[in-house]
Amino acid sequence: MKPKVYVTRLLPEEALNRILSYCDARIWKGDLPPSRTELLENIKDVEGLLCLLTDKIDAELISNAPKLKVISNLAVGFDNIDLVEARKRGIQVGNTPGVLTETTADFAFALMMASARRLVEGDRSVRAGYWKTWGPLIFLGHDVFGSTLGIIGMGRIGSALARRAKGFNMKVVYYDLYRQEEKMEKELGIEYVTLERLLSTSDFISIHANLTKETTHLISKKELDMMKPNCVLLNTARGAIVDNIALYEALEEKKIFGAALDVTDPEPLPMDHPLLTLENFVVTPHIASASIKTREKMAEIAVDNLLAGLKGEKLPYPAGSS
Ligand code: DGY
Repeated sequence: MKPKVYVTRLLPEEALNRILSYCDARIWKGDLPPSRTELLENIKDVEGLLCLLTDKIDAELISNAPKLKVISNLAVGFDNIDLVEARKRGIQVGNTPGVLTETTADFAFALMMASARRLVEGDRSVRAGYWKTWGPLIFLGHDVFGSTLGIIGMGRIGSALARRAKGFNMKVVYYDLYRQEEKMEKELGIEYVTLERLLSTSDFISIHANLTKETTHLISKKELDMMKPNCVLLNTARGAIVDNIALYEALEEKKIFGAALDVTDPEPLPMDHPLLTLENFVVTPHIASASIKTREKMAEIAVDNLLAGLKGEKLPYPAGSS
């Protein structure tokens, strides 16, 4: 008998076919995530769960799945899963690290350029019919080339961004709970600084940390107050690392130049959210890893994890291992 699994969204075809050939799979085909009731109901009798970052897999859900052996998250981040509870129950948890590094770093760089040079604002203005002539004082932004980039979280994606920044002759400083080896700092041309120093000296600040208790609202009013008036804040990690209300105030009062977020808290932002009224704010719908190739690779790894867990093997990509 094939093992029963629940898959919480349609995946690229090849990945789905691999699941279907080995498993008795129920697949949620909605565009929106399954509701809590749906999840609770569908997880009851399965041995495997392939879920997304939009599915909250907490203690209640886990206790509702007595046969569950493996949770495979289609994301590198796994803050949506209660890892401690899963481990207590002997359930393996997998994620998809590595394959989305360069794609996400590309996107963070794109957000930096877009914000610094007011690309989205410019586009909106042309479409609204405001473009009348070339002007020496219109849409002035800030140079990316040669400026200082502060990276919070020097993991895989942070270091991929640092490599890109070197090509733009940027000075790169970073803050992380763990300092990189000197050799790595030299190779990347990066300097370790305190968070305070990073905040007060960077022209661009890009967040690449995991969401934990410690990083929730890591960027709040106090931290925004330390930033330079020309500073642009970028977030492609998790929305809750930034306090949105404090960010709104800082942008509205022009205490910083701009912000570009691919992740928000909540997701999506409600349409009446004050941030959406600001010209110096760019937002995208959590798509930093959304290239065709990368999403295919993420799905492939998520299926590798799922199938390994069902067979009782060690997962190739266990969450929390690196
Ligand atoms: C992740 O993988 O954690 C990203 O947020 C989505 O690709």
